[in-house]
Amino acid sequence: MTGKIIIETKSLVKQFSMAESFFTALDSIDFTMNEGEFTGLIGPSGSGKTTLLNIIGSLDKPSKGEALVLGESIGTLSAKASAALRNRSIGFIFQNFNLLPVYTVYENVEFPLLLLGVEAEERRVMVEEALRWVDLLDKRNSRPGQISGGQAQRVAIARAMVKKPRLVLADEPTANLDAANSHHILQTMKKLNEDLGTTFLFSTHDEKVMTYLKRRIFLVDGKIDRDERV
Ligand SMILES: Nc1ncnc2c1ncn2[C@@H]1O[C@H](COP(=O)(O)OP(=O)(O)O)[C@@H](O)[C@H]1O
Ligand SMILES: [Mg+2]
Repeated sequence: MTGKIIIETKSLVKQFSMAESFFTALDSIDFTMNEGEFTGLIGPSGSGKTTLLNIIGSLDKPSKGEALVLGESIGTLSAKASAALRNRSIGFIFQNFNLLPVYTVYENVEFPLLLLGVEAEERRVMVEEALRWVDLLDKRNSRPGQISGGQAQRVAIARAMVKKPRLVLADEPTANLDAANSHHILQTMKKLNEDLGTTFLFSTHDEKVMTYLKRRIFLVDGKIDRDERV
């Protein structure tokens, strides 16, 4: 599974238009990631981490250059093809967990499978397996407001992983968590990376997270400053 290129950017540029000019958020980004990596984008606030993850996740388009993700050129995908790529192959984890508050833990994890049209019995098996990965099967009937932040982020991991995507993108996943929960979250993701071969790309500026990363790509002002393998 490892060794195959899963992400490749070529002179990737993202500009946002301002009142009378534009702002360059990503400035000629070139990097590749192989299947099975566990890699962090590290940089201060405003360095372009979220912008880059959004393009790789096919939530946004390059202004110039190219982003190839799982063989698809993000800039040329229709809205429908982007949605299909995300639904099938990419899991997302966000800083604020982004769980649906009126649904139970179980229903939140089930949601991506409904989008994929998975049958009821198969859904049940997959949701229970995903909740077991994050050790939250006993909270299946709770709602997001009834569990801790660390537990909510583990639900978000289960939701991202339930369809066994090839790529998981996590935007500052520990930014709202204390040290103990941050470590637990990273250990959980690392285990899924090792057991299932899922590729993980994080953004972070959390020192606690960095020791888990096998590769660290440092962003400064929308440019890659350093790219280290540990
Ligand atoms: N939709 C947008 N319109 C204008 N500027 C934006 C937009 N999104 C991000 N930016 C700018 O691009 C830069 C990078 O933002 P972002 O990718 O969110 O950085 P990070 O996630 O590293 O904090 C910031 O200066 C931000 O203000
Ligand atoms: Mg960000």
